[in-house]
Amino acid sequence: MIPSQRASFDMPREVAYLNCAYMGPLPRAAVEAGVAGARRKARPWELRPADFFAETEVARSLFARIVEADAEGVAIVPAASYGVATAARNVALAPGRRVVTLREQFPSNVYSWRALAADTGAEVVAVDAADLRGATAAVLEALDERTAVAALPNVLWTTGARLDLAAIGARCREVGAALVLDLTQSAGAMVTDFRAIRPDFAVAAAYKWLLGPYALGFLYVAPERRDGRPLEENWLNHAGSEDFARLVDYRDDHQPGARRFDMGERAQFATMPAGIASLEQLLAWGVAEIEATLAAKTAAIGARARAIGLAPIDDDRRGPHFLSLALPPGAPPDLLARLAAEGVHISQRGAALRITPHLYNDDADVDRLMQALGAAL
Ligand SMILES: Cc1ncc(COP(=O)(O)O)c(C=O)c1O
Repeated sequence: MIPSQRASFDMPREVAYLNCAYMGPLPRAAVEAGVAGARRKARPWELRPADFFAETEVARSLFARIVEADAEGVAIVPAASYGVATAARNVALAPGRRVVTLREQFPSNVYSWRALAADTGAEVVAVDAADLRGATAAVLEALDERTAVAALPNVLWTTGARLDLAAIGARCREVGAALVLDLTQSAGAMVTDFRAIRPDFAVAAAYKWLLGPYALGFLYVAPERRDGRPLEENWLNHAGSEDFARLVDYRDDHQPGARRFDMGERAQFATMPAGIASLEQLLAWGVAEIEATLAAKTAAIGARARAIGLAPIDDDRRGPHFLSLALPPGAPPDLLARLAAEGVHISQRGAALRITPHLYNDDADVDRLMQALGAAL
């Protein structure tokens, strides 16, 4: 169990922020790294060609360690949607073929598939994961020889419903489907072993559980996919870009590994150092230790919620960092605003409250949450 890390964050005592699934706060170290990075842009004469490459390589290898993957397979992207669009560019759909998603899945892993399906006469199907007990079984049942792509998360962003991705990956290989994952709601908070799951593509935006900046993300690409088509051709992702004097000796070959899938202007001088500091912080804590600590935090909050009559939903089949509480009938429509007025920040998804703590949360936050819920309900 990791003790409270509140001192590593710029978080006033009167704020109980239990909404990491909405937006993770930057640790202080990441803010400092980002500010120092932004200052470099004020002195461009000090930038060297190597500065366009070195930090992105560091970021690749740090993210690879978070998901137990090889750094050569990591591309730098600006958003989850960019990673999914890259995947969609590299799989073939046809009439009668299917893309399997979850019902109410986050749009970033849906819209590219809807567009590609409309272009090709394929179909996007949405599996109902409402009954968390059956989410993995329902997905496994939907995966058959018609499936071209399984486009899925590890946990559903609304309820935290958890999928067994190793079992789903094995089934995808059996039926010849590509596995395309959006891990924005789990990478950094849950142990994710790509050697066991073997996704074709897996993306994570950095701004939630990776505690990173906005407009940065990572796309993992499987070894057999690393000769695919990038979403865009940019000068940095082409071979030879290290030599600034020869950029117009155009070359059609790309940088090695998954670097060909990097976004344009990937060397973000403020964002990238902040992202690196966040990843270093997560690795210093340890992903398995973070997972165990967040599981204990959500369990403790769930137990106290039960004591005031708010039942956790399907507690045993959710991501360990998610807590979903059924709203009682008659809950005020402005409940979230009332809580926010007391300094308590959580989300509501449908008829449930979504509570997603991190290491900065402590007992005083939970007391504040319980007090505010008790007063408002
Ligand atoms: C599951 C999931 N994926 C992705 C995102 C963000 O997507 P993008 O990076 O495409 O803006 C969110 C934000 O809520 C999310 O919950």
